[in-house]
Amino acid sequence: EQAIVLKKQLRKVSLVAHRGASGLAPENTLAAVKKALETTADYIEVDVHQSKDGQVVVIHDPTVDRTTNGTGRVADLTLAELKKLDAGAKHDSSFAGERIPTLAQVLRAVKGKKKLLIELKKGEDNYYQGLEENTLRLIREHRAEEWCVLQSFHDPILERIWQTDFVISTHKLMVGKIPLLPIYIDHELKFGNFERYSEATAINIHRYFASKALIKSLHNQGFKTFIWTEDSPKNIKKLFELGADGVMTNHPELVTRAE
Ligand code: G3P
Ligand code: CA
Repeated sequence: EQAIVLKKQLRKVSLVAHRGASGLAPENTLAAVKKALETTADYIEVDVHQSKDGQVVVIHDPTVDRTTNGTGRVADLTLAELKKLDAGAKHDSSFAGERIPTLAQVLRAVKGKKKLLIELKKGEDNYYQGLEENTLRLIREHRAEEWCVLQSFHDPILERIWQTDFVISTHKLMVGKIPLLPIYIDHELKFGNFERYSEATAINIHRYFASKALIKSLHNQGFKTFIWTEDSPKNIKKLFELGADGVMTNHPELVTRAE
């Protein structure tokens, strides 16, 4: 699709390179992160799981089957075993040899050049023991508090982060239906009851649910909202015009910004 230029008035909105610039390079690899660094994206989004030996690694699924030449659960493989796998060739043979990166490697690659949106995942059956604390420790060790944001679909993960004294932006990812008709809460018409997420900076919604009224209601309730995942530049522009604070896309290279 044709690339677009976002007009100046949209300067404050955030474009997010989803799983890195995953339209150009294998998702969640250093190659995708490097490609994203060359785009006008404001954020790079990656997903994290935890290896058998407690290392935070960047991969989307709880198993290595879809994106690598291996099989099995991330939770059952050590970092050394994960590092032997090829995480590039399935995307395109020119990326053969790409590895599953650790979160530490991604933090070193991004180094504050853009913001990093880290999505904490759960394992196939269980939550990872210590994933939240290990992620926060890595952010602290890399002095990355100012340019990292954490997001998750899972309330127990967000609640664990909120229980620590670590100050960092968090986004709640909504899955499933958001009431499409407003309801009365505290004598006010609102979409959804997001009170339990009051610690979150943003409630991130799927593009199917994006509407001017919902975005406005989230804003009125004190939340920003980033919409996932839209690859058509025309629609990305529309989402920003509806009031979205951020849009996640696999193709950040198709969106540039007016000077
Ligand atoms: O950033 C939101 C989006 O990444 C959530 O879905 O499956 O791509 O991690 P998923
Ligand atoms: Ca994600």
